[in-house]
Amino acid sequence: MSTAKELFGSGTAVITGAGAGIGAGLARYAARELGMKVVLADVDTPAITALQAELPNAVAVTCDVRDPDALERLAGQAGPVTLLVNNAGVEQFGYLWDTPVANWDRLLSINISGVFHGIRAFLPRMLADSRQSWVWNLSSVGGVSASPLQAPYIMSKHAVLALTECLRQEVELAGHTDHVHVQAVLPGAVASNIFESAGAVDSGDVTAAEDHRAAMLKIKEQAMDPVDAAGVFFDQAAAGEFYLTSQDFVRDAMAARADVLVHRRAPVLPPGELTFPTD
Ligand SMILES: NC(=O)c1ccc[n+]([C@@H]2O[C@H](COP(=O)([O-])OP(=O)(O)OC[C@H]3O[C@@H](n4cnc5c(N)ncnc54)[C@H](O)[C@@H]3O)[C@@H](O)[C@H]2O)c1
Repeated sequence: MSTAKELFGSGTAVITGAGAGIGAGLARYAARELGMKVVLADVDTPAITALQAELPNAVAVTCDVRDPDALERLAGQAGPVTLLVNNAGVEQFGYLWDTPVANWDRLLSINISGVFHGIRAFLPRMLADSRQSWVWNLSSVGGVSASPLQAPYIMSKHAVLALTECLRQEVELAGHTDHVHVQAVLPGAVASNIFESAGAVDSGDVTAAEDHRAAMLKIKEQAMDPVDAAGVFFDQAAAGEFYLTSQDFVRDAMAARADVLVHRRAPVLPPGELTFPTD
């Protein structure tokens, strides 16, 4: 079995949402541990400019994944891409019925349409190039579970998982699995800015939304380091796994989801305080 360094080492990684959290961790690991060239794509220009200065062989490109033309330009500039990571994503807290329409639209356009725009821009180029390439889409432990007070986010992560599973089938149907590898990334709890920058509610039960943000920030205290998480994802990808998971509790959630569906149980609230084990 080839190692991640052997598979990815001489290539180029394009990472959306590379300015913080998981995206920045992937960029650091890819550049420093694997020796990849990294293209840091984000709306946060100061963050990616600072990261570019820190890394060997990095290029910062201001890019909003909501804009299909921006992804098309990025794909045109990047040259042959070994790894595309459709990572940019945002959170939203509060009851679904209190969620501002603008926040709903923004979340869907980043978390779901952003992934689609990346695929639309990069996949045709990868399919036409006989070199080995990988596409990673960021789902979540939330893509295999239900959780209150963040319904738009959870829905978007289920959507990305389904999209990625369909994409894997389509790459096989089109006869390209010998060189284009599609993988779904399901992080559990990885240190990042996602809960701080999450959308809020401006009417209705504001307290419920903010209490939930506080609970999630508490979970973050035990979250995994993003560079460590990146190492785990690259090793699983090199081993040819489809579902790349950061922690064992993500696999437990997958099993629990399967069990709920097999037994056709209605969703119930998680017992007690909202916590995720870390391992
Ligand atoms: N951190 C976790 O524990 C966790 C768990 C499961 C899934 N995820 C997923 O991982 C991905 C990364 O999340 P994170 O936790 O690192 O978040 P983060 O907030 O730390 O980083 C997200 C990055 O995306 C960028 N971004 C936001 N909107 C953008 C846009 N329109 N175009 C381009 N870039 C944009 C932000 O500027 C930021 O740099 C997300 O898709 C998230 O759903 C994270």
